[in-house]
Amino acid sequence: MRTTTGWRAAGPTVLRRTSLERRDLRPDDIAVQVDYCGVCHTDLHALRTYDQHADAPLVPGHEFTGVVTGTGPGVTAFSAGDRVAVGNIVDSCGVCAMCEAGQENFCHSFPTLTYGGTDRRDGSTTLGGYSREYVVREAFAYPLSSNLDPAAAAPLMCAGITVWEPLRSLRVGPGSRVAVAGLGGLGHLAVKMAVALGATTTVISRSQDKRDDARKLGAHDLIASTDTQQMAAARDTFDVVIDTISAPHDLAPYLKLVAMDGTLSLLGYLGPLTVEAMDLLIGRKKLSSAGSGGRPATAEMLQFCADNGVAADIEVLPSSQVDVALDRLRRNDVRYRFVLDMSDLD
Ligand SMILES: NC(=O)c1ccc[n+]([C@@H]2O[C@H](COP(=O)([O-])OP(=O)(O)OC[C@H]3O[C@@H](n4cnc5c(N)ncnc54)[C@H](OP(=O)(O)O)[C@@H]3O)[C@@H](O)[C@H]2O)c1
Ligand SMILES: [Zn+2]
Ligand SMILES: [Zn+2]
Repeated sequence: MRTTTGWRAAGPTVLRRTSLERRDLRPDDIAVQVDYCGVCHTDLHALRTYDQHADAPLVPGHEFTGVVTGTGPGVTAFSAGDRVAVGNIVDSCGVCAMCEAGQENFCHSFPTLTYGGTDRRDGSTTLGGYSREYVVREAFAYPLSSNLDPAAAAPLMCAGITVWEPLRSLRVGPGSRVAVAGLGGLGHLAVKMAVALGATTTVISRSQDKRDDARKLGAHDLIASTDTQQMAAARDTFDVVIDTISAPHDLAPYLKLVAMDGTLSLLGYLGPLTVEAMDLLIGRKKLSSAGSGGRPATAEMLQFCADNGVAADIEVLPSSQVDVALDRLRRNDVRYRFVLDMSDLD
């Protein structure tokens, strides 16, 4: 085994520096020195629900960039020294219809998650990117363009791809009218990507506080979800509403914003919810969801971002301040993604 250092959960709001083991390289594995890892709201959900008595530690982190430091004998796509990016899935069955269609994120036997997943070959629990080294199958690592800053690109690998796939599958482009609900990590990348795809883009936020930011991100307007007049005036006006709100919420006000035959893509809250069928019937509206991305879409997204100068707006903190990052994210005090600099780990 290989030994590295990382941050493991020691309570719902506390992480402790820890030594941890990575597997020896299999033929198709690469070892990655993790330089930057984004802090996703999903990490907060995972910490909150983690059972401290579980057999395996929880090491969060599923959007990171770094440099290849070693390659298994069968690796063909990477060499030591290459810049790479890794996201929130690290393996899939490779043979089901979804995998064959390049939608490994929907693998019928569920994709292996970057942390808290079960390794398909040895059954061990995967430990995430809040660490200095990660070992991953080369098929689930992506070359990182020199056009992209490695810190600002890290959040593309979860937040970015999660909003990219629905934007693309819903054919967002010039002439599309897109609304993005919740201006956080996912939301701000959804705005940048929708704008870069040519859509007229509006932010739906809880207040007017982020109005200036929304403009700087390229949005043409911001609607406060708490302002019933503004919400009523925007009824039936968006072809696509990308909902990245992290907490349970009533979908009705957001479905009202969807234009006839348009779609509400629910990405942020993934638990059970209630929908009034009439809110879909009137206007023949669609409700959809998505998560992460397949390998082709992930590669396409990275290329698009490199070509169009799209990356996250970040605040970089040394990894030793991971608790600060998580606490501030919990309080919605980030514009718009924390990224941990792992160089303080050995
Ligand atoms: N589908 C997937 O595969 C996938 C992938 C990654 C993340 N996620 C999930 O997506 C959600 C967003 O993640 P993130 O990292 O973007 O989080 P984030 O940075 O915390 O952003 C969430 C945004 O939601 C809004 N919000 C928060 N609480 C709210 C409430 N009670 N009511 C209404 N709006 C609220 C806020 O926007 P305003 O301040 O503008 O109102 C906030 O900035 C999380 O639940 C995460 O687990 C899903
Ligand atoms: Zn995530
Ligand atoms: Zn599969």
